[in-house]
Amino acid sequence: MRWRAMEPGDLDGVAAVARVAFPDHPEDRACFAERLALCPSLCWVLDAGGVVAGYLIAYPWPLGAVPPLNALLGSLPAHADAHYLHDLALLPAARGGGHAAAGLALLFARVATPIALVSVNESAAFWRGHGFAVVDRPDLRAKLFSYGDAARYMVREPARG
Ligand SMILES: CC(C)(COP(=O)(O)OP(=O)(O)OC[C@H]1O[C@@H](n2cnc3c(N)ncnc32)[C@H](O)[C@@H]1OP(=O)(O)O)[C@@H](O)C(=O)NCCC(=O)NCCS
Repeated sequence: MRWRAMEPGDLDGVAAVARVAFPDHPEDRACFAERLALCPSLCWVLDAGGVVAGYLIAYPWPLGAVPPLNALLGSLPAHADAHYLHDLALLPAARGGGHAAAGLALLFARVATPIALVSVNESAAFWRGHGFAVVDRPDLRAKLFSYGDAARYMVREPARG
């Protein structure tokens, strides 16, 4: 299995992984297609012999703002002070082998701003292990609620030096 740049032909596979990984937060294939079109340099898939076993999607986005779930963005901000990690997901059979960490390493190597995300699926501990910390933003509570009770806004500051 290896991470490689996402291509339009991967989108059915990406949507299939998302359905398995995020059963409570379904997003249309069009959302993934749009992110790939807007920011191809921060979209990757975990390729398991031609089958999409995982994906990672990120894009420039202002700190303190959460994109709406299952909605098109239209465009990306011209001058964003951060990036948003939209999804990192692996098929169950691909988990536990360090592939998530390897995918994150690709992102961390390419991005020098803070990276924000909304943790779901009780994944806050996983994210803490990768340098993210929960940031309590009262202004985001209503938006986070649409991601479920346990959703948390988390931010990873860039490494210094
Ligand atoms: C989160 C996810 C990408 C992690 O993938 P993975 O293959 O288990 O990750 P890795 O093998 O790189 O890392 C495993 C490590 O993370 C830990 N970990 C994985 N998921 C965790 C979780 N939900 N909570 C706490 N720790 C977790 C493991 O215990 C392991 O720790 P260790 O290295 O000390 O043994 C995967 O579980 C997944 O796709 N989940 C469904 C989608 C999801 O919830 N994505 C994040 C939502 S924002």
